[in-house]
Amino acid sequence: MTSITVNGGRCLKGDIFIQGSKNAALPMLAATLLNRGVTKLYGCPKITDVSRMLDILKSLGCDVSWENGCIRVDTSGASGHFVSEACAGQMRSTVFMMGAMLGRFGEVFIPYPGGCTIGKRPIDIHLDALRQMNVALVEDREGIYGCTKQILGTVIDLRYPSVGATENIILAAVTANGKTVINHAAKEPEIIDLCLLLNKMGADIHGMGTETIVIYGVEVLHDAEFTVSGDRIAASTYLAAAAVTCGNVCIFNVWEREIKSVLQVLAQMGCGIVIQNKRVRVIGPQMTFAVDQIHTRPFPGFPTDMQSQMMACLTMANGTSEIYEHVFEDRFKIAGELNKMGADITVDHQKATIRGIGQLHGAAVSACDLRGGAALVIAGLMAEGETTINNAFYVKRGYQDICGDLKFLGARIEERKAQVV
Ligand code: UD1
Repeated sequence: MTSITVNGGRCLKGDIFIQGSKNAALPMLAATLLNRGVTKLYGCPKITDVSRMLDILKSLGCDVSWENGCIRVDTSGASGHFVSEACAGQMRSTVFMMGAMLGRFGEVFIPYPGGCTIGKRPIDIHLDALRQMNVALVEDREGIYGCTKQILGTVIDLRYPSVGATENIILAAVTANGKTVINHAAKEPEIIDLCLLLNKMGADIHGMGTETIVIYGVEVLHDAEFTVSGDRIAASTYLAAAAVTCGNVCIFNVWEREIKSVLQVLAQMGCGIVIQNKRVRVIGPQMTFAVDQIHTRPFPGFPTDMQSQMMACLTMANGTSEIYEHVFEDRFKIAGELNKMGADITVDHQKATIRGIGQLHGAAVSACDLRGGAALVIAGLMAEGETTINNAFYVKRGYQDICGDLKFLGARIEERKAQVV
């Protein structure tokens, strides 16, 4: 079992290039199946979830290589329709395989998707939409089976702008018969990235980044190359860490418009912010201020994926802050671990109240999900003494090299692998 050890008290300083986006890379890898040839993706992050996605593609007969920062997927030999439990593991993103495999093979079986335990995470919106597109679905204890003679374009009104459901519908619609309209679609930057890749492959998608996406089905896609955008959550995590360590950090490779809601909160905490093209610098104050209220919302609102890290940041702010989690119902688990480090956080349903304290202290704590793990890393950077974060594998699901990056910025941080005896 891997752990991360942090000795707090260092100011983070320096410039850092941000890894490619996890949430953009995963549906793009599923999208490669729709091209019966070669797709090359540059800048995919080297994280566990990407490796698992590649394993799924290999298990379907795709030829996959990952050299010099480029993932090459040749799907010409792909066949079958079955994603095994062993390949799917605990990864939520298996669900994207539904749209892509139905588009390619007209048939799919996936085990129920896993992922971080941050709430119930149903997939009813995905399934309702696929049914509307002429897919027959059967659910049993093992997973979900779907088949179709021909995916048919239609008008789909989403009851909630689910990111994954929007992506799954797009994947299914690209080679469907006719026009698909998604109303109340998710507007996350990762959706734009996916559509840009698919359009480069010959798809005909319009309106991505708005709440109405229109997809005209095409017969075939063709070979393409694409570079995955920078990860806005990794960027925001490092900027937040700079904010609370009296730091001065510049991130490269992420647009300010993609992290605007996070920067607004950091400004309220007293940070200086300098923006220049795809570079954003945050300068942390001597003492941070509390923030009255943060509400997590779909993009362009404050991202739920930054909620835990911001909670850690506010533990030592001057005053009381409130965070309201509106996206996932069970995403405050990390509060208890932060309290072990001296924080004063109370949770009442979807609301967390964080009373700023003078100083956190190091402790042995455990990550219980990916972003909660990152929050504990930030808390460790702020704390006096040594913090050990157990279950660090969660963090590796989303951050390519969090220890290396923070060390480069001046932190005292190490990854430790448990000795096998
Ligand atoms: C994606 C991101 C995740 C991020 C989330 C919200 C990826 C790989 N993951 O997850 O990092 O936290 O967006 O920005 O891109 N819901 C339903 N039924 C459904 C689908 C979703 O009720 O069929 C609910 C979920 O339980 C949740 C909310 O809708 O409460 C948001 O989920 P969704 O936007 O679908 O998130 P994911 O695609 O799972």
